[in-house]
Amino acid sequence: MTPSEFNSLRDMLNKESGLVLSEDKQYLVESRLGPVAKKLEYKDVATMVSEWHSSKKASLQNQIVEAMTINESFFFRDKTPFDNFKDYTLPNLIKSKATSKHIRIWSAAASTGQEAYSLAMVLNEHKHLLQGWRVEIIGTDLCSEALAKAKSGLYSQFEVQRGMPVTYLVKNFKQVGTMWQLDSNITSMVQFRQFNLMNSFTGLGKFDVIFCRNVLIYFNRETKSDILKRMEAQCNNGCHLVLGASETLVGLNGNYTPVANARGLYEHNREAAVKNEKQSTNFKESPTHKTGTGGLSFTR
Ligand SMILES: C[S@@+](CC[C@H](N)C(=O)[O-])C[C@H]1O[C@@H](n2cnc3c(N)ncnc32)[C@H](O)[C@@H]1O
Repeated sequence: MTPSEFNSLRDMLNKESGLVLSEDKQYLVESRLGPVAKKLEYKDVATMVSEWHSSKKASLQNQIVEAMTINESFFFRDKTPFDNFKDYTLPNLIKSKATSKHIRIWSAAASTGQEAYSLAMVLNEHKHLLQGWRVEIIGTDLCSEALAKAKSGLYSQFEVQRGMPVTYLVKNFKQVGTMWQLDSNITSMVQFRQFNLMNSFTGLGKFDVIFCRNVLIYFNRETKSDILKRMEAQCNNGCHLVLGASETLVGLNGNYTPVANARGLYEHNREAAVKNEKQSTNFKESPTHKTGTGGLSFTR
């Protein structure tokens, strides 16, 4: 593909999915788009990209965007977030939601479903504490192929061995040939939907817990901040946000407070959000805002 086609592909990927692809990643494009070119019977990746570049055909573009996603996931990935969920988030929710008895959890980059199902299995272990409660787990992802696998609840031997305690396997899966089928009492706890984090969140409703793990790493600072800021509007009071092991909020926008001794776990700080919102509204509305010796007096 020509340098101009490659650059235009990088721009499109960034705009459509948030993915930041550096200039030296042409090899990655070649390797990830190879199977799509083959499936669609193009001579090679360069021919397919050339066709996309000149036609901008939506169906081809979607397949290219989806093929560039990294869908790596596994059950109880990194362990700590699920321990935190069990030991900190869940007891908190049982107290704070005692009146409504309704909990909503969002797995915001659900991929092939292991994250959402790990949460469902933990909740199932505590169902005696949740009698009469309504618990919704929504798993969303950009990639339709990953979601189709998630919905099937069917995993390979390798996938079920990777990170999942054997007791969970024995209790929740049945072997079907060489594969393992997750029981319907667990799959029925999760709804999966195709959804792009670059789009508006308003139709998703409000959540008490948001797992947004191992996806922000692919985005630039501006996109990360934008997503985290927009997520705030979907937070019920005290909503817990969980990031991936290599992700941090340092240097990003958003009113989330880290929970002590719980790596990757944050609590939405509604008071700070309201205060900051007021300050930014005052700032916008008042051209004669106060200034101190060092400049603007706003703390944000
Ligand atoms: C590495 S997986 C993370 C899966 C899971 N959260 C975990 O930590 O195991 C990243 C997922 O983010 C999804 N993704 C990437 N960009 C996205 C976007 N703009 N909107 C929604 N999902 C996106 C990919 O399709 C992929 O399934």
